[in-house]
Amino acid sequence: MTAAIIDGKAFAAGLRARIATEVAALADRGIKPGLAVVLVGEDPASQVYVRSKGRMTVEVGMASFEHRLPATTPEVELLALIARLNADPAVNGILVQLPLPRHLNEAAVINAIAPEKDVDGFHILNVGRLATGQRAMVPCTPLGCLMLLRDRLGDLAGKRAVVIGRSNIVGKPMAQLLLRDNATVTVAHSRTADLPALCREADILVAAVGRAEFVKGNWIRPGATVIDVGINRTEAGLVGDVDFTSALPVAGAITPVPGGVGPMTIACLLANTLTATARANGLPDPEGLTP
Ligand code: GUN
Repeated sequence: MTAAIIDGKAFAAGLRARIATEVAALADRGIKPGLAVVLVGEDPASQVYVRSKGRMTVEVGMASFEHRLPATTPEVELLALIARLNADPAVNGILVQLPLPRHLNEAAVINAIAPEKDVDGFHILNVGRLATGQRAMVPCTPLGCLMLLRDRLGDLAGKRAVVIGRSNIVGKPMAQLLLRDNATVTVAHSRTADLPALCREADILVAAVGRAEFVKGNWIRPGATVIDVGINRTEAGLVGDVDFTSALPVAGAITPVPGGVGPMTIACLLANTLTATARANGLPDPEGLTP
């Protein structure tokens, strides 16, 4: 047996096509969703992400606003830009690319974004809303993982899920989303004792640790669904957090790197921007784009 490959690239393309259709329908009402992306500094990986975000935003028919600021930008200037974007009716979504240069207070910057425009779902109000089951903006990468899991498995109720990684961007919101879907969730991290044994209990294994090929095939429960969030640059090229070669004969299904979770993140960012636009205009949430 060999695992089914979960084609996130194709799923994301389908999602963007759906979003484009909804954006066209909004255009008939004179509404054009707008996404503002703020990049501070010159981190090369961030520049790549920001460029492809801008391109795909335009491709689905939304307006894209890019703000590139020097690495030395004082916090007051960044906060002033966010205040302008908060007040701008053409901007429905605001994303400040992370990581920020060290002199900037990440929490203060994120919490300055209007919660209803926080398409990353990182604002403390959205984090709290997700955790308490209220209507929130949900972080893009875990939302994309959830869509792939539901598509693969249907109902997640009663499944044992292990999330490796406890970041605010992926691990913690992923755990919240799985819990909302009635999975039994364990969050593992660098201090977890006997991680391989814990992983072997998992029907759903989500790896978000940022360590190349960290999860080995013999950690995986036969038939498990494995979601690999890692994007690690090595001499051999891009690899995930899962050792794909040894996982393939054991898992039931697995996301490849690249072409798995990665493309889902930007598609979900566009989904969140569409949702934010609908809400800003008093329209119902578009079907299937929110948990
Ligand atoms: N840096 C890495 N991932 C993300 C993300 O999802 N959103 C933002 N804003 N920055 C990131």
